[in-house]
Amino acid sequence: MSLFVKKSVEQLLLDSAESEKGLKRTLSAGSLVALGIGAIIGAGLFVRTAAAAAQNAGPSVTIGFILAAIGCALAGLCYAELSSSIPISGSAYTYTYATMGEFMAWIIGWDLVLEYAVGAATVGIAWSEYLNNFLVEVVGVGAIPYQWCHSPFQTSPDGVTGIINIPALLIVSVLSLLLIKGTKESAIVNNLIVIVKVTIVIMIIILGWGYVNPAYHTPYIPEATTYTDHQGITYNFGGIMGILGAAGTVFFAFIGFDAVSTAAQETKNPKTAMPIGILGSLAVCTVLYILFAHVLTGLAPLEFFRDPSKGGEASVVAAIKEGMPATYSWLSKSVTVAILAGFSSVILVMLLGQSRVFYSMSKDGLLPAVFSKLHPKYQTPYKGNLVILILVGVFAAFVPGDVVGHMTSIGTLFAFMLVCVAVIILRKTNPELPRQFKTPLVPFIPILGVIACGLMIFGLGWENWLRLFAWLAIGFVIYFLYSRKHSKLNHPDKE
Ligand code: ALA
Repeated sequence: MSLFVKKSVEQLLLDSAESEKGLKRTLSAGSLVALGIGAIIGAGLFVRTAAAAAQNAGPSVTIGFILAAIGCALAGLCYAELSSSIPISGSAYTYTYATMGEFMAWIIGWDLVLEYAVGAATVGIAWSEYLNNFLVEVVGVGAIPYQWCHSPFQTSPDGVTGIINIPALLIVSVLSLLLIKGTKESAIVNNLIVIVKVTIVIMIIILGWGYVNPAYHTPYIPEATTYTDHQGITYNFGGIMGILGAAGTVFFAFIGFDAVSTAAQETKNPKTAMPIGILGSLAVCTVLYILFAHVLTGLAPLEFFRDPSKGGEASVVAAIKEGMPATYSWLSKSVTVAILAGFSSVILVMLLGQSRVFYSMSKDGLLPAVFSKLHPKYQTPYKGNLVILILVGVFAAFVPGDVVGHMTSIGTLFAFMLVCVAVIILRKTNPELPRQFKTPLVPFIPILGVIACGLMIFGLGWENWLRLFAWLAIGFVIYFLYSRKHSKLNHPDKE
């Protein structure tokens, strides 16, 4: 039994042709860009941006966005090459199986749980913040009591401790059930939501621009120091470390463009549609984010975003109310509604990504067969989706948003680094492989990608490095106790 047994690319493509009988190919390049934007614009922009400004970088969070975008573009170019040459489900996991062997593939598959499942939980928690705002501002009933919409590890400034985040649990449950009904139906809902979401972001930029207070942008890059929040957690604030920390935090806002690649098996003509889907959605979002962050940090002072009872939660709506005249209350109300819908589409795509990664891993024998068993009518891996629901639900209900947000970022950054390395390796091992899209300047671009993602990991600080190591350690245990023994590549007789 070898840790480094590799799937040949030819075998992968054969699997892909075979599985056409399973998952349906229904998505076009246009729906991929929509799927991408649907996954990309979400809690990263509407929650994590203000958190990064408050905890790490003040107005220079915009520079963090630029850094994060550079890292994503570099990794995105690598993703595009891999997804156009190995156009099958499973994303970074599949690419790693072909290039670095089974053990690394397992690591990345396990790591992707951080990106997709823990990421879905993060957005669910952000959804819960805006639901409260919706109940108070739009419906006019009171907020949900603090303890029922926060994790047991959170305490309010007036001393109430959380018990369970019920709204977060609720939204991930409803969307998991929707996903079981099928990708096509979910994509139609998703397209509608994408339009609303992009419209809202553009409206905030245009209408908010005139109310930006230059005083809140001075100094643009705060002096390097530390900041300790009301729960006693300390962050590097200002200077280069602040910007790196902010980049790692808002990196979350870009996560999702790679989720497009997990849908390769359901895409018509994946070789051309994939690069368009990945890079197109990334480009649109980068421009919007930088402008948006500039406006957001100009609407209210730093202290406002640090106070959980003011702009610390549902920060965008709070900032509109703080920095713009009362005549714009229609804007804050519609933003609240749009965000609730918009976050739902993000959660949906992340759950979809997670179930597809588990689907591929289970087809390879690294996870139990239950994850690849398709529903007889809906043709979706429904039992897998239910198991994922439990996993995501636990994170959504009991872990604070900051923690799951950072875990998502660090896990994804690690996956991106491996994808960059995979491009270099595959060029050497399979130079003949037809590549519809080729990453330019290899190995220069992939190496820069590794450095950019590495810097952001560095900026996230040791607590998050530790969380990543702990997560990977759990993964090792599962691999050696289960996956290695059931791997189809290592045990062809079990086919
Ligand atoms: N990029 C997605 C978001 O910001 C994950 O919610």
